[in-house]
Amino acid sequence: MTRWLVTGGAGFIGSNFVRMLLRERPDAEIVNVDLLTYAGNLENLADVEGDPRLRFVRGDVAATETWAAEARGPWDFVVHFAAESHVDRSIEDPVTFLRTNVTGTQRMLDFARAEGCGTYVQVGTDEVYGTLAPEDPSFTIDSPIRPNSPYAASKAAADLLARAAWRTHGLRVVTTRCSNNYGPYQFPEKFLPLMITNAMADLPLPVYGDGLQVRDWLHVDDHNRAILLAAERGRAGAVYNIGGHDGERTNLAMLRDILSILGKPESLIRHVEDRKGHDRRYSIDSSVIRAELGWEPTVTLEEGLPALVEWYRSHRAWWDRVKSGAYRGYYEKMYGARLGGGGSPAR
Ligand code: NAD
Ligand code: DAU
Repeated sequence: MTRWLVTGGAGFIGSNFVRMLLRERPDAEIVNVDLLTYAGNLENLADVEGDPRLRFVRGDVAATETWAAEARGPWDFVVHFAAESHVDRSIEDPVTFLRTNVTGTQRMLDFARAEGCGTYVQVGTDEVYGTLAPEDPSFTIDSPIRPNSPYAASKAAADLLARAAWRTHGLRVVTTRCSNNYGPYQFPEKFLPLMITNAMADLPLPVYGDGLQVRDWLHVDDHNRAILLAAERGRAGAVYNIGGHDGERTNLAMLRDILSILGKPESLIRHVEDRKGHDRRYSIDSSVIRAELGWEPTVTLEEGLPALVEWYRSHRAWWDRVKSGAYRGYYEKMYGARLGGGGSPAR
């Protein structure tokens, strides 16, 4: 068996990663450590619930001592997804982001060293590079680190702490920095699920500022394939940028495509006050991971966007329960009595 410790596996990208591991690595034995904050939802993993190769531990990455006994090493891989991930929330409440993203990452690095770990993957973001003007070349791994939001700054600190653990202690760390993901089970505070679910319900679509900000969209499975490659074959100390191949679009262009797929009118679009410090454009140069690890994105936006809309159409029960808050009782129902759970209470 190959032992994987995954943090944040009840969130959007982490739950898709757990599902991919179970499907594509028959020898994988996984422990999923997640605090189940508002963004964590075990219903994201309902279809693999009960798989004997997957175990859930409720725990806070910033308080590893409260659950370490339930997740003893050595680990072949530690993949650290858990984070506070929403830029708007970081503007309102930066301290929570420092605790989870900075302290939590240092604690996970210490945990990995103490328990023994073959490779530690730090899941990072392209937002650490800041913003681009329309004609600028894409971010490379040598672009300066210039974060513009408390979220991005906390993720930059986390990447640098991971690098320091590699240089100081020789922990085998690999860092990935990916652009905007889309796919199933994304929490509907983020742009695409918010807009799709609002449009389906004929609710207004709040576009920040002029809506001409550009994001470099990548399907979550392509991101997770890159993480899998980085874990299994990545170079110690390497940083791998991961981005869409055809994914650069303005927010307004994405919205118009969504409305046209749904057959809804553009009159649903409402321009609202801009996000503070709003990054204008992200664009990623993925040449290093392509050349070194042979990674290629496989899902184009032309295929991926209609499939995404279809997923939200056919999973209305899932997002109704998220939007109404009903999903918050799932853990207690499924696990409460059986596991108790370490870590702090969810916020
Ligand atoms: P998400 O918000 O959907 O999920 C985060 C998960 O972490 C949740 O399950 C939550 O319960 C858990 N969590 C939060 N605080 C915790 C704590 N203190 N202890 C344990 N668990 C905790 O986020 P996501 O979009 O799936 O992002 C996952 C990772 O990928 C993050 O590190 C994020 O920075 C990075 N990333 C995201 C994107 C994107 O487009 N969404 C792109 C690049 C990188
Ligand atoms: O680039 C990777 C990052 O992508 C990840 O590190 C973050 O965790 C993830 O949240 C995402 O950050 P963004 O800020 O780009 O994503 P978000 O979905 O919040 O917004 C996408 C764009 O849409 C951005 O330009 C802001 C805009 N937007 C967003 C919301 C929620 C709106 O216009 N209206 C909205 O209501």
